[in-house]
Amino acid sequence: MNKKFSEIYQNSIKNPEDFWQEVSNDIFWFKKPTKILNKSNPPFYKWFEDGVTNTCYNALDLHIDEGRGEKLALIYDSPITGNKKQFTYKELKEKVSKFAGALKNQGVNKGDRVIIYMPMIPEAVIAMLACGRIGAIHSVVFGGFASSELASRIDDSKAKILVTASCGFEPGRTVEYKPLVEEAIKMASHKIEKLILFQRSGNEANINAPREISWDEALSNAKEVDCVEMNSNDLAYILYTSGTTGVPKGIVRDIGGHIVALKWTMKNIYNIDTDDVWWSASDIGWIVGHSYIVYAPLFKGCTTVLFEGKPVGTPDAGAFWKIISDYKVKSLFTAPTAFRAIKKEDPEGKFFSKYDLSKFESLFLAGERADPDTIKWAENLLKVPVIDHWWQTETSWAISSNCTGIEMMKTKYGSACKAVPGYDVQIMKPDQTLAKPNEMGDIVIKLPLPPGTFPTLWNADKRYKDNYMTNYDGYYETYDAGHIDEDGYIWIMSRTDDIINVAGHRLSTGAIEEVLSEHQSVAECAVLGVADKLKGQLPIGLVVLKSGVEKDHATISKECIQMVRDKIGPVAAFKIVIVIKRLPKTRSGKILRGTIRKIADGEDYKMPATIDDPAILTEIKEDLMKNSILK
Ligand code: COA
Ligand code: AMP
Repeated sequence: MNKKFSEIYQNSIKNPEDFWQEVSNDIFWFKKPTKILNKSNPPFYKWFEDGVTNTCYNALDLHIDEGRGEKLALIYDSPITGNKKQFTYKELKEKVSKFAGALKNQGVNKGDRVIIYMPMIPEAVIAMLACGRIGAIHSVVFGGFASSELASRIDDSKAKILVTASCGFEPGRTVEYKPLVEEAIKMASHKIEKLILFQRSGNEANINAPREISWDEALSNAKEVDCVEMNSNDLAYILYTSGTTGVPKGIVRDIGGHIVALKWTMKNIYNIDTDDVWWSASDIGWIVGHSYIVYAPLFKGCTTVLFEGKPVGTPDAGAFWKIISDYKVKSLFTAPTAFRAIKKEDPEGKFFSKYDLSKFESLFLAGERADPDTIKWAENLLKVPVIDHWWQTETSWAISSNCTGIEMMKTKYGSACKAVPGYDVQIMKPDQTLAKPNEMGDIVIKLPLPPGTFPTLWNADKRYKDNYMTNYDGYYETYDAGHIDEDGYIWIMSRTDDIINVAGHRLSTGAIEEVLSEHQSVAECAVLGVADKLKGQLPIGLVVLKSGVEKDHATISKECIQMVRDKIGPVAAFKIVIVIKRLPKTRSGKILRGTIRKIADGEDYKMPATIDDPAILTEIKEDLMKNSILK
């Protein structure tokens, strides 16, 4: 182990309270915490419980107080619309304070929930920060989710206000948000009090007063408001993510720990200083977007890029290089799938050679396993370190990484590097004993988790405890499996639950199965993630029909695909449904999804000892071949 990193890491594990107390001095507190970690009620740990601070103050006001108000905070670049805008810290603060005033005028108070369902436009960031300013809890919902997903989030969060825009733009199609929102409001049993809608010019939507108001009108009589004092353990946001069932989990983030941890990561993990330009090419609807488009770079006081476009097709495979070159970006953070898309379109890097990337220093990848081929291709092209790091919505920042601001470590292709300071990562075997180096098992993290991770689930303490903290006493169960090698490098191999990763988007196959089961001709079904060269994994559905159904299979498949698009959203990228005769099961009736996935991916598999009827596997293999899933 490298000494400098090793010392810092060991100190964070042996003396977490001293470590994080020192780190916490770097943020602004109205009242500094004297109690660093409350361990009295495991697994509900509390960081900095008597501290008083504010998320928005740390993201904006602090930098102005420190004389950096004229520095660029946010660069918005939208190749899909051709729009560009830039905001200094001072300008962003004015916009945020004013929208915070508008939210107050609409009745939003400390602790109220505000749903933000918006495309990648500056107003989305302004709305998030405005919530923080007045102590409201935002819940951003990704634009690729359908109305029923939005409705379930309205119901669970009991949001008072919903902030949206007239539309978003996807290559080749305009996503009209208003009808989706109206449908969601109709479906939800909880009734929101007000809808604030940002009109995108040329694509305005109808506004029905008095329950609906346009962004501009809401601002028209709003006054700028100051940051309210918030307790460190009050909540900054809820972000819903796929769970092991179809019901999404409301991951919550407390205020103090979030600011402390995220600010620390910018220098220590990403080697970013206040004068640097940073870009995270994700979406604000995902955790990567929350943490690394909005919060961490603004806490740090550097410049962050908000990109409304795609790695390819907006307009070409040079879009990323253009942004890096135009704004002198120092580091980029994205998902491997984005690089696979560029590689597919421009394998020789012809677009790359048109741009000046002399200021570019490193590429960080996360969200799914970075395959060695893609990493090597990117290294070869960019001639900078390409760093795979591992994290989850639950943690909000990297669990394992090359901490480039502390000490650059060597790359091992296929590994997400070492545990980051604050995380005591271990491998647990099924017999509840810790694994030796290189032995596979469940990846767990010893409690307490560091600041910035989820202190509980929204209104679901029991689910938090049962789901994550119970199987391995004293540890957080990550639901990822893998091993740690003799040098301490972590290798993430697979999920242990029903989560799949499609283009870096986290999806629950259980949730898709729930939708398919609602089809009137479907008796039973299984959804699995099969390997895909571009998106990492793709969901496919296998359905068994009720006896007597005579409808043709192609129609049933089409209907199933449409149902998933309508109920979950286009983001599920669900395009393959195969009608089969029977599903392979164990004698106790459990569907052998793991075995089917192995067959679909052309991997070796063992005949499960408990299989009810081995002949079904041969049938499935033939069906997959007929449908070109298996070549
Ligand atoms: N609003 C509405 N619809 C959206 C959307 C949004 N914000 N984002 C995606 N969608 C839609 C897409 O238009 C597509 O719809 P379609 O079936 O009509 O074509 C569908 O959801 C699937 O989207 P996606 O998985 O993104 O596939 P894609 O083919 O459009 O693009 C990539 C593939 C690789 C270019 C794209 O996934 C990408 O840029 N990934 C970058 C990594 C990333 O952002 N990861 C997120 C977590 S870090
Ligand atoms: P999300 O909560 O959407 O960020 O998804 C988290 C999940 O994505 C993790 O539990 C992993 O399964 C997967 N993941 C994220 N980063 C990596 C990585 N670097 N390598 C392998 N899997 C990853």
